[in-house]
Amino acid sequence: MYFNKSIFQTKLIIIFFSLLYASVSFAKDSEKFINGLIQKMTLEEKVGQMNQYSSFFDVTGPPPNDDNAKHKYDQIRSGLVGSVLNVKGVKEVRAMQELAVNNSRLGIPLIFGFDVIHGYKTITPIPLAESASWDLKAIELSARFAATEASAAGLNWTFAPMVDISRDARWGRVMEGAGEDPYLGSQVAIARVKGFQGTDLSATNTIAACAKHFAAYGFAEAGRDYNTADIGTSTLHNIILPPFKAAAKAGVKTFMNSFNELNGIPATGDPYLQRELLKGAWGFSGFVVSDWGSIDQMIPHGFAEDGVHAAKIAVHSGSDMDMESYHYVKHLANLVNDGKVDIQLIDDAVKRILTVKYELGLFDDPYHYCNEKREKELTFQEDCTAAALDLAKKSIVLLKNDNNILPLAKKNLHIALIGPLANEKNSPLGSWRGAVDANTAISVLEGMEEYKGNKVNYSKGVDLTVGETSFIREININETVRTGMDGAIEIAKKCGVVVLVLGEHGFQTAEGRSRTVLDLPGLQQELMEKIYAVNKNIVLVLMNGRPLVIPWADEHIPAIVEAWHLGSQSGNAIASVLYGDYNPSGKLTMSFPRNEGQIPIYYNHKNTGRPDPSDMVFWSHYSDESNDPLYPFGYGLSYTSFTYSDLDVQSSNETNQVTVRVTVTNSGDKFGEEVVQLYIRDLFASITRPVKELKGFEKVGLEPGQQKDITFVLREADFSFYDNRGRFVFEPGEFDVMVGGSSKEWLKYSFEF
Ligand code: BGC
Repeated sequence: MYFNKSIFQTKLIIIFFSLLYASVSFAKDSEKFINGLIQKMTLEEKVGQMNQYSSFFDVTGPPPNDDNAKHKYDQIRSGLVGSVLNVKGVKEVRAMQELAVNNSRLGIPLIFGFDVIHGYKTITPIPLAESASWDLKAIELSARFAATEASAAGLNWTFAPMVDISRDARWGRVMEGAGEDPYLGSQVAIARVKGFQGTDLSATNTIAACAKHFAAYGFAEAGRDYNTADIGTSTLHNIILPPFKAAAKAGVKTFMNSFNELNGIPATGDPYLQRELLKGAWGFSGFVVSDWGSIDQMIPHGFAEDGVHAAKIAVHSGSDMDMESYHYVKHLANLVNDGKVDIQLIDDAVKRILTVKYELGLFDDPYHYCNEKREKELTFQEDCTAAALDLAKKSIVLLKNDNNILPLAKKNLHIALIGPLANEKNSPLGSWRGAVDANTAISVLEGMEEYKGNKVNYSKGVDLTVGETSFIREININETVRTGMDGAIEIAKKCGVVVLVLGEHGFQTAEGRSRTVLDLPGLQQELMEKIYAVNKNIVLVLMNGRPLVIPWADEHIPAIVEAWHLGSQSGNAIASVLYGDYNPSGKLTMSFPRNEGQIPIYYNHKNTGRPDPSDMVFWSHYSDESNDPLYPFGYGLSYTSFTYSDLDVQSSNETNQVTVRVTVTNSGDKFGEEVVQLYIRDLFASITRPVKELKGFEKVGLEPGQQKDITFVLREADFSFYDNRGRFVFEPGEFDVMVGGSSKEWLKYSFEF
């Protein structure tokens, strides 16, 4: 084919400039429109845009008659509400939107928010699990489908991704994040923002994303939710902020601030975080929503005197929208009229909120997302289910597999399937489960029954919970009722292999679910030990929302599969791993402690001044436990094995660029995927650096015997860090580069810039 390079280049240039022109003129149009609208708005209407309420009555039913709901209903009609959350479904959203658009003076549409955390109707693995896939494309796709289903239900804003780094598995919200590492956390944040927002926010199948919780919420002291975070500048800039900055750079439209105080200042009232960094240095042009009631909570924090004061602090600090504190709508107009809040702060917040509404296409058509036909067609699409299954398989981490007990033979096996989670259809949906119907996950029993060649005998053994389980109430764990135990033991005696499914209930994780003991709750440990006494051939399948402390299982049980809360397709994904139709490829993104006393435990720790073992006690260690985690960050086994060789590192002192090459070989006899991980260590610097920092990774699939050369290019920024004044600095010197299949096993090369 004739190919004229210069015509092609000219065409590319024309396309580039037309796109640039289109986006500049879109921005100009939106600015003109929004400035015009703001000029028409009264002060009260402006403040109304900064006010967000949660769903408070049956929108499609008769108007409310309790006073509070009535009041909110009237406020929507009067244009005093900018957004609602927790109203969902086309019918409800349309009815609520009509209230605002048809009744308020300017007819400004509402924006509809919802916690679409890991799927909307089709539930994908909890975010901690999906991060263990290290598969950014699959993660992006899962957010894409979540956005498709949510937008088809009338929604246009999700409160995700949560990008909080955490080193503390006691904190129940680790299930919502991507683990302990800021580099991986940043990559996952970008993938999820792209997935939710797509390339055109005004399309009917994209929604605005929200990076939360800004900032340091994951560093709650002792892992107790909502607790104080008190950390230094280095940890803030090098560990906590990078995923937020990455999300901002990826174009996330909104941020949510957080409940916690950070170094004495509640994040909601922190001008350094929200104004200086986010809206200043990072150039973020979207808006910041408070967390639920967090403006009001500055009063018990001891930072605001009363609601008036709280509203004043929050708006000065850069919180643009008040979620459920009611202080903006009650007090901001008076504060402006009394000269205590500058109207420019209000105008700036309103402009940010209206811009996102404009970009969502709500001014063109407020019912843009409200189409019942689309809602029907786009919910539970086949390719969405396929993507959920694919990601569920990829999220599973094989922790142990002695004597290759896994995969299971497909024929002539007599399997005892035991445990309170073995036939659970609700718990695997996890917490923050969108709008899914309860009890709709494929259970492990159902997944295993798809394989017809074996006989499966199921017994629950014990119940994990007692009474109702819900997102808002404390879960009651069964500590006493042992009636099912004997039956399970009898079954285990008679079978060739036991698949034991234990863990945490889905609702034992997430907000308000901190735990001090990270064991297998209730009678599950006892059940496991009793089964082990009669049959040692056990595969333990764990379902949980955080790293658990399982030293006994690690010592005794030959095979352990970490299966998290994997969502709608749980049982199918687990069965395909147990039977070897999918070769596990997940790697942990949070360290598993040996006991709770090691927490916080994380791979990228500092070396200390006394790191080396000695025959005296005076080195940094515990008298009663090793320093190492049970399973480290980046760890995960496969049914095949991989070897690493020929590490080659070329560094250039002119460009400060480093090229790293390594050969990875599948040295086993099955196809498998490996996450090749690249770490660096800066051996000496003006502030101490971690013993290891992840700087790159690649997931590769290899046939038995196949080799692949993997190349990573590291730039100056990869060797730079934030100093204690928050400045990003590059300090030449000696570095180690480590490449391997986990943060504990690698080939090393040292060089100097
Ligand atoms: C949580 C947020 C969530 C919000 C709205 C709060 O309690 O901290 O993460 O988005 O509720 O549901």
